[in-house]
Order: sequence, then structure tokens, then C-alpha cells
Amino acid sequence: MKDNVSIIGSAHTNVKHDSAIKHVTGRADYTDDIAQPEGTLHAYLGVSDVAHAKLLDIDFSDVLATPGVVGVLTADDVPGVNDISPTHLNDEPVFPTDAIQFHGQPLFAVVAETRDIARRAAELAKIEYETLPHALDPIAAQEAGYPHVTAPLKLERGDVAPAQETAPNRIKGRMSVGGQDHMYLEGHIAFAIPGEDDDVVVHCSTQHPSEAQHMVAHVLGVPSNAVVVNVRRMGGGFGGKESQMNLFCAVAAMAAKKWNRAVKIRPDRDQDMTATGKRHDFVIDYDVAFDDDGRIQAVEGSFAARCGFSADLSGPVTDRALFHADNAYFYPNVRLNSRPMKTNTVSNTAFRGFGGPQGVIAAERMIEEIAYATGQDPLDVRKVNFYGTEDRNITPYHQEVEDSILDRLIGELEETSEYRKRRQDIIEFNKTSPILKKGIALTPVKFGISFTATWYNQAGALVHVYNDGSIHLNHGGTEMGQGLNTKVAQVVAEAFQVDFSRIKITKTTTEKVPNTSATAASSGTDLNGMAALNAVEQIKARLVKFAAETWNVAPEEVAFHANQVHIGQEVLPFDTFIKQAYLARVQLSAAGFYKTPKIHWDRAKGQGRPFYYYSYGASCSEVTIDTLTGEYRIERTDLLHDVGRSLNPVLDKGQVEGAFIQGMGWLTTEELWWDDAGRLRTHAPSTYKIPLASDRPRIFNVNLADWSENRELTIKRSKAVGEPPFMLGISVFEALSMAVASVAEYRECPRLDAPATPERVLMAVSRLQETL
Ligand code: MTE
Ligand code: HPA
Ligand code: MOS
Repeated sequence: MKDNVSIIGSAHTNVKHDSAIKHVTGRADYTDDIAQPEGTLHAYLGVSDVAHAKLLDIDFSDVLATPGVVGVLTADDVPGVNDISPTHLNDEPVFPTDAIQFHGQPLFAVVAETRDIARRAAELAKIEYETLPHALDPIAAQEAGYPHVTAPLKLERGDVAPAQETAPNRIKGRMSVGGQDHMYLEGHIAFAIPGEDDDVVVHCSTQHPSEAQHMVAHVLGVPSNAVVVNVRRMGGGFGGKESQMNLFCAVAAMAAKKWNRAVKIRPDRDQDMTATGKRHDFVIDYDVAFDDDGRIQAVEGSFAARCGFSADLSGPVTDRALFHADNAYFYPNVRLNSRPMKTNTVSNTAFRGFGGPQGVIAAERMIEEIAYATGQDPLDVRKVNFYGTEDRNITPYHQEVEDSILDRLIGELEETSEYRKRRQDIIEFNKTSPILKKGIALTPVKFGISFTATWYNQAGALVHVYNDGSIHLNHGGTEMGQGLNTKVAQVVAEAFQVDFSRIKITKTTTEKVPNTSATAASSGTDLNGMAALNAVEQIKARLVKFAAETWNVAPEEVAFHANQVHIGQEVLPFDTFIKQAYLARVQLSAAGFYKTPKIHWDRAKGQGRPFYYYSYGASCSEVTIDTLTGEYRIERTDLLHDVGRSLNPVLDKGQVEGAFIQGMGWLTTEELWWDDAGRLRTHAPSTYKIPLASDRPRIFNVNLADWSENRELTIKRSKAVGEPPFMLGISVFEALSMAVASVAEYRECPRLDAPATPERVLMAVSRLQETL
């Protein structure tokens, strides 16, 4: 019955991003493009210029005297609860009442006829305060006796002390790992339109519409059913819009209800960078014991993070750092502690990898320490410590690693990148090159997929088939450029066996799918793809029943194939069949649901199966440094990444490339720098350097492990791709480290801190040269 005719745009094919043309022609609509109703007002935040103080008074007389200013919003204007903490810890006010906790903290908003008026007037407030001593970084905070922002986590397995005592070698060290600004192209924005009674509609750029909805309701003191949050797409989120949008949504909604006019708020880039959270920087103390072959016997680690003034997502972020402090390696005896430190800085938040990269880089540092101590190629040390498949496969959180494909992945990349030969060549080159030095490194990634907050692992979808045969797809995930909507639409196209073009991708809205999770933890497609498939299957089941009864055939004789429906010997075009089903009063709409199976997590015990499965990757980078200036360039990078059976190879490759570059930026040129007063001085692209196109590797080979297939029953056996390849950037960092080590004959681990800016590379070179 089935022939070669197939549909266009099914699963596992290279469908281009559904908005690709709109993105590059400027026709994609973002929140700021929505037509404004007459009388729209604009809000702008007024912020503190001190890191820690008692707030005494704010004098708004000059602000209010400014022509065009409509009014100000302060803590006194909050009708409901003055808290936007995503973890409901009541530690994050919309606007503070008595305590200023960081430089740049939003204290009030000015509402005016134009954005420009609001922005200028916000500078005119006179803030009266009494300064208090501040602590900016996790070490200063520990010394000042600052509290944790949330309960720390401990992971423990085996017996650490005896293993440390009996091991032939033991190294202790400290590593500082910098934070990172999200630098999404589209900054934060919220646009609220008041409705009748308590109603308000908020259009905004958030990864978490349901949380924004609940938060706005909480702040307004109204039930969630009065608030609608809509997101068509974001111009990038990268975790920076998982919780940070709450403030902007709350302010826009409060103002809209207060003045009964539409209100938009859009900070400029400097304010976006100073007033919203970033990746957590960490100070990691490690203690690794190992035998003479480089096999790890025991690991102890303490992970202190700069969390900022409130908890935000710092609990799960620092937890995830511990979950990844093993990366790909078996630790027979291990004890890991997180130290989520309160500091007088902006509250740090989710960022691609969600603490995982900070854990992984600690594991890789320990590998380096061992390699320099034993005189081995670091790749050999990696290999002897990889998780096994039968034994040596229990993680520090007692989950069994069942799906490791690292041996094959690493083996293939080692071959195709010619790692061994090039490493030898580089060692030779370095002997005769006095100024320029090269380095190469091949590093693995293993990344756990699922939200560690188990209840987050659920999703919903809503699918309508209209009686002309066109299909409307809605799900709880949000599009931020990653291609989620494209992939979910491919799943629906394949399930109905219709062309991709028949499916209308629609904005995310709390009106259609309720109680959704953030689109985060790389699980957007895993969760929403399954929920959409579930909806389609419900509709298909009704259609099959209808066809079997009406044409008097067995249900098995009804098949959807290539834009047609085959019913026994009959073949009907899909839309003709749908019209018939409609006339026969078949329900052509369904709400789908999915929850991830198998996962459980007991945080108090530090044991469970937090992850449904792991995604893997490997990366090999070669760099050249100039030992006189510390400048460097990436000569070549080869990536091999595991996405299971790819739903869309071209989109997945895009994610792998982008994540690698973003990870490389985190570890090389992106440096956040606060002065002693607690002012972020790298607050704009002028002073904060993300990688340019010209910084990419000169040779860049990116491949997917096309033989891989998820052993778990994920959507079409694919694997999550959003975050794992971020950590492939670590190969650049380790290659820089090798180039630095060459100046002292590789005798010593250079202990580079991240980011390895040219200054840090130069300082590390000088330090090693002094030891000669
Ligand atoms: N890709 C683009 N283009 N823009 C983004 O903002 N965010 C990343 C990743 N890839 C992001 C991106 C992050 S932090 C996550 S968690 C995932 O996408 C979220 O989407 P997914 O779950 O659909 O992969
Ligand atoms: N990843 C990303 N975002 C999250 C998580 C997580 O594990 N938990 C809560 N928000
Ligand atoms: Mo991604 S940091 O989980 O939004």
C-alpha cells in the first residue's frame, strides 16, 4: 500500500528553522514589535549606586516635576505580595523597602509618556541611605560570615579519608572560574495591557511564561486566572530569561493596572547587564588522590559560588555543579559540598549548563593535575578514569551510568582529529619556537538530562485540526532560537503524515497550556515533543475509529501516509478525510501531556536518579599563544557530539557550534569585573568581549555521532542538545593550559584560572618562567 511518496519535513530531516528567513530579513516579530495601543506608557527602573546600605528615603520631587512623567512605582505600590523569588523564599522584593543589597539594584520605576523621558527622569531621584559594609565575592562573604542563600548540598560515596591516606599521590588546589553575561541579542522586555476587572495580558520575552503569570498574580494580589502571559519568541535566552523576567513583568503589570493604560518596560543594555543575574562564578577547592597510573582513588571538593543577594535559582545551580563534578570519570571515594554564598552583587541565575560547566571544569582540572604529576598525556589519564559500563559506573549521587558511549566517541575523535600525531608535532614545534607556543587538548563531556527538580519534568500541548485540514500546534515550550518549535512541528507532521507546511506554529501562551515548566535544562524537545505527540495520538485514535466504522474496515486497515489517509482500498487526501470526520462530529482537538519516567531524587540523602539519561560529546582544540603578549588564537577544533537519533541534524549542528563558541567565550575573553565599590565595570559590549566571528577556530570540523540512538524511549530516540555542547569549549581552555605549560617543559600544571584572558595567559607564562 505504501509507496515512495513521502512528506516534506518529517522527523530526522534537515528542516530549516521555521523562522530562519524572518530572522534574517527582520520580519520576525519580537515583543517590541507588537503594535502599541494609543496611550501606551513607558517604565524605566531607577537603581541604587551603592552595594549595601540601609535605605532611608527617596525624594521623587524632581522626577515628578519632569514634564511627561506620569508617576513612580515603589514598594508601596505593590498591591499583593512584594516578592518575586522563583523559589518562594521571600528574599527577592520587586522593590526593596529598607535594604539595598547590591550596586545597581532596582529601587523604583518611573512611568512616563515616552521611554526617553522615563529613563532620564529615573536619574533625578535623590536616594538617602546609610552605607553598610559589603562582601562581593564568595571568599569575602565566607570571611565576613555571610549566610548561604539556600541550603547547601552534600554528595558522598565510599570512604574518603582512608583512600586519601593510602593513595600514593595526592594534590590539593584551588581554581577560580568566572561568570558570564548572557548577551542575548534581544534584552529584557515586558509589555502589559490592562483588561477589565483584575485582568492583564503581558507580552514578554521569558523562558518561563507560567512562572511570570503566577508571579504577576502574586504581586498584583489576584488569582492566576486573571493573568495571561504570551511569548511568540525570544531573541535568545540562554537561561537569562528563566527567572529574570519576573521583575519586568511585575513592574509593567503593576503600572498597567495602576494607570489603566498599556505599559512597556525595556532596559537599555547597560541596565540589562547590571540589574539582571548572570552565570555564577565559583571558587573550587579540590583534593584528588590517585595511583601512579593516574587512576583516581578519592576526590574531595568544595564549590563556593557567588550567588548574589538572593537565592533565585542558586540552589539548583550549585546542586548541578556537584552533579557534574565527576564529568565522565568514576570517583571510587568522593565527598562534594556546595557553598551557595550570599554576596552583595546581582542575584546570579541560570546560564546554559546551569552550574554543570563549573563542575565539569573542576573534574578536568584534576585530570590535568594528575597528568602533569605523572608525566602522562592527559587523554590517557582521562581514559583510565572513564566510567565503565559494567563496574566503576556509580556516580557521586548514586545513579548508575548505563549508557556511556564515551569510549567509542573519544576513540573516533582521537582518530579523525589525528590527536596523537598532532600532539607529538606540537611538542616538537614548541622545542624550537621561542615565542609562539602551541597546545592541544581532547576533552569529553557527559551531561545529565532532566530537571533536578523532578516535578518540572512535565509538559503539555494543544493540537487542533481545523475542518480544512490545517493544523494548529501549541505547546508549553518557548522558542529562543534553538529551534524547538521546528522540531515539535516535525514530530506532529510525521505523526499525521502531512507536510511540515500544514502545521501552524503559534505563540506560547498561558491560556492554552497551563502550569508549564521553564524551557530549560535542554529538555524542551524531550518534554514538549512527547506532549504534542500524545495530543496527535488522541486525535488519530478518534479518526481511525471513525474511518473503521464508516468504511467498515478493521482499524489496522486505516493508515496515514504522505498527506493521505488509506482506508482499506480507498485513498483520501488528508483534508478531504478531515472534512468528513468533522461532518460526522469527530472531535478534532486534543490536549496532550507527558511526564518523564524513571526519575527520582532524594536531596537530603544525596541519592537517586535525577537524570533520565546522559548526552555525551568530545572536542579537540589546538591553539597558539604568543608568550610575549598572552594573545592567542584557535587554530583548529574538531567536535563530535551525541544527540541520539537527531530529529533535525542541521539544527542540532547549529546548537553544537553555537554552544561550543559560547563555552569558549566563557573560558577565554568574557570577563566580569566588579570594582571595590561593587560596581560592575564590564557592563556593555565595549568592555565585555564575547567571541567575534573572527575568533572562531581557523579550522572547525563539527560532526554528530550519527550512529548514536537514545537507549531510553525519548522522542524518536533523540537526545537533548541545548546545553551539553557548551562544555566542549573546555578543550580550548586545556589547550591554552598546555601551551602555557610548555614554557617550563610541562613540569608543572599551570593552574590557569578562568577566563583565560590574554592577561591571565601572560601572567601564567611569567609565573612559570620565573620557576626556571
Ligand atoms: N540556542 C539559542 N539559539 N538561543 C538560546 O537562548 N538557550 C540554550 C539552548 N540553546 C538557547 C539556545 C539553553 S540555556 C537551553 S536550556 C536550551 O537551548 C533550551 O531549549 P531546548 O530545551 O529546547 O533545547
Ligand atoms: N536546569 C535548568 N533550569 C532549571 C533546573 C535545571 O536543572 N532546575 C530548575 N530550573
Ligand atoms: Mo538553560 S540554562 O537550562 O535555560
